[in-house]
Amino acid sequence: MRPENAEARIAELSAEINKHNQLYYDKSNPLISDYDFDMLLEELIRLEKEFPEFKLADSPTQRVGGSISKSFEQHIHKNPMLSLGNTYSEEDLYDFDQRVKKFANVETVEYVCELKYDGVAISLLYKNGVLDKAVTRGDGVKGDIVTNNIKTIRSIPLRLESEKSPTELEMRGEILFPKDAFLKLNNERLGIGDAPFANPRNAASGTIKMQDSSVVAKRPLECFLYYVLTEEKSFESHYQSLEFAKEIGFNVPNTMALYSNIEGIFEFIKDWNNAKDKLNFEIDGVVIKVNDFALQKRLGFTAKSPRWAISYKFKAERVQTRLLSVDFQVGRTGAITPVANLEPVQLAGTTVKRASLHNADIMEQLDIRLNDLVYVEKGGEIIPKIVGVNKASRGDESNTLTYIDKCPECGTNLIRNEGEANHYCANDVKCPPQIKGRIEHFISRKAMNIDSLGEGKVEMLFDKGLVNNLSDLFQLKYEDLIGVEKTFVSEDGSKTKIMSLREKSVENILTGIERSLEMPFPKVLYALGIRYVGETTAKKLAKHFKSLKELQKASLEELVEVDEIGDKIANSVLNYFATDGRQVELERLSAAGLNFELGEQEQNVSNILEGKSFVVSGIFEKYSRNEIKALIEQNGGRNAGSISAKTDFVLAGENMGPAKLKKAEKLNIPILSEVEFIQMIEN
Ligand code: IVH
Repeated sequence: MRPENAEARIAELSAEINKHNQLYYDKSNPLISDYDFDMLLEELIRLEKEFPEFKLADSPTQRVGGSISKSFEQHIHKNPMLSLGNTYSEEDLYDFDQRVKKFANVETVEYVCELKYDGVAISLLYKNGVLDKAVTRGDGVKGDIVTNNIKTIRSIPLRLESEKSPTELEMRGEILFPKDAFLKLNNERLGIGDAPFANPRNAASGTIKMQDSSVVAKRPLECFLYYVLTEEKSFESHYQSLEFAKEIGFNVPNTMALYSNIEGIFEFIKDWNNAKDKLNFEIDGVVIKVNDFALQKRLGFTAKSPRWAISYKFKAERVQTRLLSVDFQVGRTGAITPVANLEPVQLAGTTVKRASLHNADIMEQLDIRLNDLVYVEKGGEIIPKIVGVNKASRGDESNTLTYIDKCPECGTNLIRNEGEANHYCANDVKCPPQIKGRIEHFISRKAMNIDSLGEGKVEMLFDKGLVNNLSDLFQLKYEDLIGVEKTFVSEDGSKTKIMSLREKSVENILTGIERSLEMPFPKVLYALGIRYVGETTAKKLAKHFKSLKELQKASLEELVEVDEIGDKIANSVLNYFATDGRQVELERLSAAGLNFELGEQEQNVSNILEGKSFVVSGIFEKYSRNEIKALIEQNGGRNAGSISAKTDFVLAGENMGPAKLKKAEKLNIPILSEVEFIQMIEN
């Protein structure tokens, strides 16, 4: 493409993508499919790479993430980020309303009711209509600058189009992890043996504090705004300020409502308490704010919170029921979870019969015994949990519980690693739920993407003895599958479902498996389910070692030399290859035709940096740090995480740490600038 065409096309694509972003997020009315959207974005990324001089400062590609910053710089909030006074009682709300009225010396006060989003608070700073900084709450006085991560959130405008936008503006709001995406993410984490997040809030805060914003970009974070700060506008009310924020492009939820009497507020609370489970994000209450800004100003703040607002928190519904027995479940990574069987009881609209007891420590803390009356709550509104025992009602029939010491599925002695809460069954090759778990991970969308084989089918094939490990999948034939049947019985035994494989599904399964042979090596490596080796790590290992054979040969030292691979992952890789029976299995997979090597097109553009090890540090002008690292790899070089005697070059950008600089000088390692590096690869 000629430069003048590229410039025009980049501008056109940027505008188009921004438009679709807006339609999608602000108006909930997408005009094109996600796929078509991704295609536009991909074209723009490609063109910007080729013609970086035409990239717009507020390009939508920044949402894809890119640069890594090791630790976060801090920013002091211009106005401290305070918290809200909390209450669980209607009486306190009534008192709050009385206090405000008495202070204002009026009969009625207007309030805005909003949902209390259960996520992570964020402050967004705009200068001349462009997002300049995003800062976490931190300790309320100063927080972490997480701009690159926040820029990946598509519902946050990078540029405010309206002429009405103030030159300096601060918006505050809440970052949330949608419930459905949270369940999916935890499933993926379980697939590689990573600890799942306890709730969507933790997932959101963990995500915005990540170092690699390209990983953040893959998680569908949301942001709702609820507070406007600017000196350039004189709004009369909070409601008006939020309407304005909406108008200039912010995602202000339209669940907010105005009330001039306490009864209306109680009604709002009741309605949302009933409807909250239907939302795709978590709320833990309602925030009530005085609408009139003049009155807000007069009421002012205490040291900790505004006097013009209060939050009403929903009480988690709690019921009492009897503990009948405890099962010990083996998860797909071998982790044992004790599960309580309860006398069925109604809770928040569903019948609860089972609840997680988490681990041995928690059982001990609860001092829970068979036949006890226990209190059950819905934790994070998703999974019921036992929060206490009614010890006063304990009678003679109360029996102590002992924790198991052998795997209930395969009989192997359980282990418990130092510092870990869960017991484990280490028999990952032969333990049935672990085998099924590994196969489910292997076929999952981000791995081999064999979507014709859902969970139920994996279980069926395993139970029928047709698939005992990954390589068995590739031996399946039409005759093996046709007519295979399994009856699934629901947990309470009331429903049965018969699954039977007919011609069409058998064909789909076989083509799905066949097609998976085209998956590139990084996906295959991820699909193998090596503990702690997620998608990004698999890519890094694949690029670095280029084949499974080379990866297998790597020592601990060689593994930790790879950028962002630490001892934990390195040891897990070594363990994986050293496990009994693994070599035979890998050979069978290789014989079946899986890609165990990086393909031609994934290989390098040149070998000019062959055998050279680089440490990249600081901030660069032309490329992001990730792009620089990619260039090193594409030209045959390697990225290392820290400077050692083996480092060939240090590539130093602005703000490189003094400790690194000193170390490089001490070891006599040449230090390159970005310009020198570009010359090096262009020659
Ligand atoms: S207003 C000066 N509105 O709750 C008060 N906060 O306990 C500014 N939160 O840190 C906060 N939903 O993270 C406000 N609709 C809402 C909210 C909300 C959730 C969070 C926020 C804040 C915490 C206060």
